[in-house]
Amino acid sequence: MKILGSGHYVPKNIVTNDDLSKIVDTNDEWISSRTGISTRYISSGEGVSDLASKAALLALEDANISASEIDMILVATMTPDSMLPNNASIIQKNIGAINATCFDINAACSGFLFALNTAHAYLSSGMCKTILIIGAETLSKIVDWTDRSSCVLFGDGAGAMVVTADDSKSFYSVSGSDGSKGHVLTGGSTLLKNMLVNKEETNILTDNYYMHMDGQEVFKFAVTKVPECINKVLEKASLTADDIDYYILHQANVRIISSVAKRLGVSPEKLPVNLNKYGNTSAATIPILFDELRKDGTLDNAKYIVFSGFGGGLTWGASLIEL
Ligand code: COA
Repeated sequence: MKILGSGHYVPKNIVTNDDLSKIVDTNDEWISSRTGISTRYISSGEGVSDLASKAALLALEDANISASEIDMILVATMTPDSMLPNNASIIQKNIGAINATCFDINAACSGFLFALNTAHAYLSSGMCKTILIIGAETLSKIVDWTDRSSCVLFGDGAGAMVVTADDSKSFYSVSGSDGSKGHVLTGGSTLLKNMLVNKEETNILTDNYYMHMDGQEVFKFAVTKVPECINKVLEKASLTADDIDYYILHQANVRIISSVAKRLGVSPEKLPVNLNKYGNTSAATIPILFDELRKDGTLDNAKYIVFSGFGGGLTWGASLIEL
């Protein structure tokens, strides 16, 4: 698999830590020192498919191919605009990718990574030639804006990547899930509502619609699982941690990223960070960061990069790709 191009798009509204201190009991010092986040972009109306379509068009332009050359669109999101139609199909219509098969994938913050692995499987089987992969979220619609321990962490945004089949490039991946720990990060639930349900006040939004997180459990999970799966993917590829030019990690907390660098024994410069600007945009963090690094020339001489994601489910994974 070869990456042909990338793009990203975020809504125009910047929300600072000081802005948040006006709606919950928090402050810039706490948020910056505990998370590394200074600002995030929050949509005032654009949905996932709007953000994603803009990122997708930029990725197609970067790849120098037309929308009709795309034969699959995979959208990783846990905040779709609708269940029907799926968001990939809405994006297909928006960008005119008339030859694409379209579907969404939900693996929370690991979503982009799982979509990348899915794309690789379709390309290696010969079922597709060129795939558009998008990670896009409007987390602001499921964030509990009264919960200071979680609302300060998240942002909205979209990142896209165009990949094509190429036998000469290496690709290795490791992924996993642990449903028994799903309760540490929840949200988005809707109640069963039909004529057989005996409830007078059936509300489609349950207590579990808004995001709820056990921050410390997620933190512990991330700092152990991420280095573990990165080491496994390095072993599969017969490479060492030093052979990798950059580790493009899910952007959740700068302290998680520093801990992973330490555990891998590599310089923190190999683990770039942009969460100070965007916060945690879930499935969108990895493709947004990749696009920034590609466009600012950081990846110009890079040969091997590792993507690693982790999040709700619980889910995690690492993929090693030769550029
Ligand atoms: N502003 C000010 N104080 C806050 C606060 C905020 N936004 N959020 C929590 N606090 C308070 C807590 O109430 C607590 O106060 P107390 O000691 O009086 O009870 C104190 O700060 C410490 O809270 P704690 O939860 O122990 O902080 P922490 O160091 O674990 O940091 C997180 C909290 C959420 C930043 C951290 O656990 C984390 O990043 N976890 C991973 C979350 C994540 O990345 N999730 C997405 C994964 S995909």
